[in-house]
This record gives sequence, C-alpha cells and structure tokens, in this order.
Amino acid sequence: MITEATKARFAREVAKYPADRKQSAVMACLSIVQQEQGYISQESEAQIAAYLEMPEIAVHEVTTFYNMYNQHPVGKYKLAVCTNLPCQLRGGREALEYLEQRLKVHMGDTTVDGMFTLQQCECLGACADAPVMLVNDRDMCSFMDKQRLDQLVDALSAEASK
Ligand code: FES
Repeated sequence: MITEATKARFAREVAKYPADRKQSAVMACLSIVQQEQGYISQESEAQIAAYLEMPEIAVHEVTTFYNMYNQHPVGKYKLAVCTNLPCQLRGGREALEYLEQRLKVHMGDTTVDGMFTLQQCECLGACADAPVMLVNDRDMCSFMDKQRLDQLVDALSAEASK
C-alpha cells in the first residue's frame, strides 16, 4: 500500500524531470517502495504505474529486468551469486550449490529463520575477481571459494545475532 507520505517522496523524484517525462522517475519510485516495504508487490507496481501515468506492464518490465528489485519478501541478507560465464568457469555454479547445501535452501528461496535469501545473478562487472557475489545489492565479495563462503555466512550470522 503506497501512502501519501510515499507519494510525497515520489513527487520529489518526479520533479527532477521535465513535466512530460514523469515516467523517468520509475526506478526511483521502485527503489522508494522497496526501501519502505522490502519488496515490490504487483499492487505497488500498479500504484506506481497509476502515479506515473504509464502502463503497468512497463513498470513490471523494469522490476523484472533489474536484479536489485525484489518481487517477493527477502531475508535480512540477500546473497546474489554470479553464474555468468567467467564466474562459472571459476566456480560460480559450485559456489551457488555450496550455499544451497550450507543454508539448506534452493536458489530463489529464503532460509526458515528469514536470515538469508539465495539468488543467482548475471555479470556484476567484476569478472577478474571471479567467482563473485553481492550481499544486499551493495557489498561485493570476491574469489568466493568454499572457505570464503563459510567465512561470509559465519560473519553475517554473527552480525545478525548481536
Ligand atoms: Fe561474474 Fe562478470 S561473470 S562478474
């Protein structure tokens, strides 16, 4: 549910563009909803579409194109493992499978304690550090072999329990 306070935030983003280009604020509006709600529901997409006077499908296309937008609730830590070719050649697929075993989830799922959501993603632009992964869409982790994956999961678990 998008509130009047949220719409006020939308308005500040829309004001950055020419009056006849308010759709240009779609990514900013999606980011605002995700900040506030943790994910972007179909209802939110419809409300954003109505606010920006654009087709719902056009909003949905943006939501589904970018990995950073969550279409469902996610855990405290979203782990996105790159499985594009350079990372796959250096163990990206194995990293993903190892995390599935370690966290006892399948790719796309969230652990029962709500702590971790595991995803795969396309190239993160850090192929020289392959295999890489992104934590919560902002922290890049490089050379993710099993030892480093264990260190990361242990560190995040410890951080969450503080
Ligand atoms: Fe993984 Fe480029 S292929 S970062």
